[in-house]
Amino acid sequence: MTREEAYQILNKYMAGDTHYIQHSLAVEAIMKGLAKRLSPGDEEYWGIAGLLHDLDELHCDWRNDIRTHGPKSVEILKEEGVDDPVLFGAILAHNPPNGKKAKTKIEYALLAADPMSGFIKAVAQIYPDRKIASVKPKSVMKRFNESRFAANANRTYMEAIEYTGLRLEDLIDISLEEMGKIAGEIDL
Ligand SMILES: [Fe+2]
Repeated sequence: MTREEAYQILNKYMAGDTHYIQHSLAVEAIMKGLAKRLSPGDEEYWGIAGLLHDLDELHCDWRNDIRTHGPKSVEILKEEGVDDPVLFGAILAHNPPNGKKAKTKIEYALLAADPMSGFIKAVAQIYPDRKIASVKPKSVMKRFNESRFAANANRTYMEAIEYTGLRLEDLIDISLEEMGKIAGEIDL
């Protein structure tokens, strides 16, 4: 699957939901940056995993059963003719309650990138201009250690980046840099 095909599938199933499309683009950007460090040459592929990780958001029954988030994306992708166990593994593992545990680098990367994208967005909202350009890595780390700040951003998942050999600080630096490059597209 090319990035263009993935983007078309995303738009088909997220049908104009700006919030989720921007979130998907942010996670794509972080995943590309992580691939540069962890799996050079696979930037586009890791990016596609980021882009599609929440594909079922409007189609699964997460309000009643969080375990459907992930498996439903795999079902949709299979209907679209995609058959890619590595991609499916990453999508499933980003939502541990469905039973799939992260084991590989791409799986840990996605598990960590997903909450980090929202967390950085929350930190940006503190600044008068609400821009990611105002956010310093140190400020992200400071807020990370304040458990009441963006309390539903899962710290444990973000820290899981350390299973890839990178540090949490690296994830923060990479996320700020990569989300910053597409700031206009993600309203930051
Ligand atoms: Fe997500």
